[in-house]
Amino acid sequence: MAASQHVSLTVNGRSVQAVVEPRLLLVHFLRESLGLTGTHVGCDTTHCGACTVLLDGKAIKSCTQLAVQADGREVLTVEGLAKDGELHPIQEAFLARHGLQCGFCTPGMLMTTYALLNANRKPTEEQIRAAISGNLCRCTGYVKVVDSVRQAARTLARPARAKPRTGRRRTTGRRR
Ligand code: FES
Ligand code: FES
Repeated sequence: MAASQHVSLTVNGRSVQAVVEPRLLLVHFLRESLGLTGTHVGCDTTHCGACTVLLDGKAIKSCTQLAVQADGREVLTVEGLAKDGELHPIQEAFLARHGLQCGFCTPGMLMTTYALLNANRKPTEEQIRAAISGNLCRCTGYVKVVDSVRQAARTLARPARAKPRTGRRRTTGRRR
């Protein structure tokens, strides 16, 4: 077995140091070592997108990255979206527009949406559908997901959001 390696990274704004096996997948590091179980595992084959997180701002499937590949980098998971107990506008939009049913795909959908809207605040439906094409949902039929992303885009595009967070304390990225 290869020697364990020390990794130092930032996860949801917090500095994390750990010693990991080189073969440890990032998703297992997040879920099992850090207890961040909002990131789901749906397939383990880079297919479903349930494990999507941001690595240095880019949406990646954490089931196909090694934890050691995140060394020195910044990871954002679904747990990092809400601040001070208040949902992120993207989470609010998914709630308001019913962009989830069972919620299993939702953390990945939220993180993909976050990356999309960081790059493009006014995506077309085609661009939204292209962005979420790597995130599978077996419940919603995607129409409500697209609607949720559009709602989030509208909220985030407002120049001076008088009320950027509503104070709701529910979490859409459920723990499993
Ligand atoms: Fe990573 Fe499905 S668990 S893509
Ligand atoms: Fe159930 Fe998407 S809400 S898989």
